[in-house]
Order: sequence, then structure tokens, then C-alpha cells
Amino acid sequence: MADSDCLHPQHVMVELKLGHVEQGLNLSAEACWNQVGDDWRFFIEHGKVFGFLDEDQRLIASAAALPHDSRFGFVSMVLVTKRWRRNGLATRLVNRCIEWLDRHELMPVLDATADGARVYVRQGFVSQFALDRWQLVPSGGPDAPVPAPDVPWPASEDSLPIAELVALDARATGAARPRLIGDFLARSTTRLFVSPGRNGFAIMRRGRNALQVGPLVASSSDVAISLVQKILCSTDEPIFVDVPAMAVPFGQWLKSRGFTVQRSFERMALGRSLPFGRPAELFSSAGPEFG
Ligand SMILES: CC(C)(COP(=O)(O)OP(=O)(O)OC[C@H]1O[C@@H](n2cnc3c(N)ncnc32)[C@H](O)[C@@H]1OP(=O)(O)O)[C@@H](O)C(=O)NCCC(=O)NCCS
Repeated sequence: MADSDCLHPQHVMVELKLGHVEQGLNLSAEACWNQVGDDWRFFIEHGKVFGFLDEDQRLIASAAALPHDSRFGFVSMVLVTKRWRRNGLATRLVNRCIEWLDRHELMPVLDATADGARVYVRQGFVSQFALDRWQLVPSGGPDAPVPAPDVPWPASEDSLPIAELVALDARATGAARPRLIGDFLARSTTRLFVSPGRNGFAIMRRGRNALQVGPLVASSSDVAISLVQKILCSTDEPIFVDVPAMAVPFGQWLKSRGFTVQRSFERMALGRSLPFGRPAELFSSAGPEFG
């Protein structure tokens, strides 16, 4: 569905459909991001994804707005192909996401890369807290895509009713996310890890470059550490964990196990510096694209 928003005569803002998933993946792969097709599909099915196409109908920029059952929604997948950067495309797309969330009375929240933050500060986004992406690369490097397994992992022995997972997640993040949690769990290669006291859980899903751990919600650092210990026993593939920088003892423990900080993000919201939920119980976000 084209709208009248044109930057260049040949650049038309469109709303992305499922048929754009492959092109979306090309954009996120160009930036070496970790998303897989299921992630793009989720944004298109459950949120609004806007993009710019060039004269050959190629996707050259994107941004997504994802509503949560909360007072806020997430803005993500802000990507502009190298050739078309510094032309105002990201600004236009993020403005469209802000408008869409505003119509649903949701405050825009996002996890910004350093480049992204330069765009968002101009739009009125303010910092809430920092997150570090800790990565463990047992062998080789994280740049090569992880081959999908021929068969799904064996079903995890851990389980907890989805309502309990959603409630723990909502306490930590400030948003009920049953569709997101349900989607992650429905993917055949996802694994769920639950603490013995049922006071914490971690979801691990397959990404393009590494296994993505998150959300990881726990009542304490010790519970979070025990969940990651369990995860480390289950795989020797590269792992990403997106940890709020305030979780210092947890970060120190990750470092002692060989994790290193690959990059950092800034949780930002439009005009609100006070975080939602209880960040002290969030030990890994669901990734910068979901929060
Ligand atoms: C970050 C990104 C989306 C910006 O896209 P863009 O279309 O180039 O951004 P805009 O043209 O709207 O930039 C608006 C303003 O933000 C600032 N800005 C944007 N990118 C900048 C950069 N790399 N360095 C310094 N300032 C920058 C500038 O003030 C710019 O205005 P100007 O060009 O008139 O000086 C793009 O660089 C990108 O795709 N990067 C890789 C993926 C990524 O990090 N995405 C953000 C995820 S949170």
C-alpha cells in the first residue's frame, strides 16, 4: 500500500507485507544483525512495518512499530542500506512509527545502536538505561550464519504454563507480551529453561549469527546465572545475551565464563527517562528488536 510520502520521486513509503520478508532479511543481513525470517514475519503480522523502495522495487530502508499490551510499543528494525544513508529516510520512517503508535496511545520505546541514537535524540527520545550484548563464541567467529539443524532440538524438559511465563516477563518489562512469547515458543528450534523455584526463565531461539537468549527474567543474579549455566550445558554454538548494564554481578559472571561485550545499546523512550517494569529482574532482553 503506497502512500503519498516521497523523499525522492522514485522513493515511495510502503507498508511491508509478508512478501517483503526476504528483502527485509537482506537489509538486516547487510547490517550483520541476528534476525531470521520468523522475526520479520512477526513484525509484519503483529505490528506495522514501513519501508522505502527504490525505482527497481528493492527495499532500501525499514522501520517497525510493535504494540505491546502496555502503555508503550516498540520501534525497531530501523535499517537503511548504506548507499541511501543520510538522506532522512530513517527519520521519516521512525516518524511514521511514532504516529502509528501515538494513534494507539502507546509511547514509543526502542533499543538504539550508537548510529540510531544520533537519529532518535533529534526526535525527542531520551535514555532510560544501557544494555550490553555479551557474546560467547566457542570457536570460529560470529560472522558466519549458523546453519539450521536438520532436525529440531529435542524438546526441552523444562516447562511452565505460558500464562506464568508471560506474567514473569510482564513484571520485568512492564508489558504483557503473550503473542511474542507464544511465537518464540512455537518455533521448532526454540528452547525454554526454567529455574527450579519457578522464579526465572530463559528462552533461547535461533538467530542468523548466534543463538539469542532472551527474555531472561529472574528474581536474582544467582537465578539468572543458574539458567545460563544450564544453557551452556545444552549447546556449543555462539550465543548472544543482551544484558542491562546495571546487572553488574551477572555481567561479571558472564565475563568470567568467556563472554565478551560485542556492542551496546541504549533503551530510549520518547520523552520518558523512567524505565517501565522492573529492569532489575530483566537479565536479558528479547533482543534490541523486541526489547
Ligand atoms: C542509523 C541509520 C538507520 C540512520 O539512517 P539514515 O537514513 O542515514 O538517518 P537520517 O538520514 O534520517 O539521519 C538523521 C540525522 O541523524 C544524524 N545521523 C544519522 N546517522 C548518523 C551518523 N552515522 N553519524 C552522525 N550522525 C548521524 C544526523 O544528524 C542526521 O542528519 P543529517 O544527515 O542532516 O546530518 C543507518 O545509519 C543504519 O541503517 N545503520 C545501521 C543499522 C542501525 O544501526 N540502525 C539503527 C538501529 S537502532
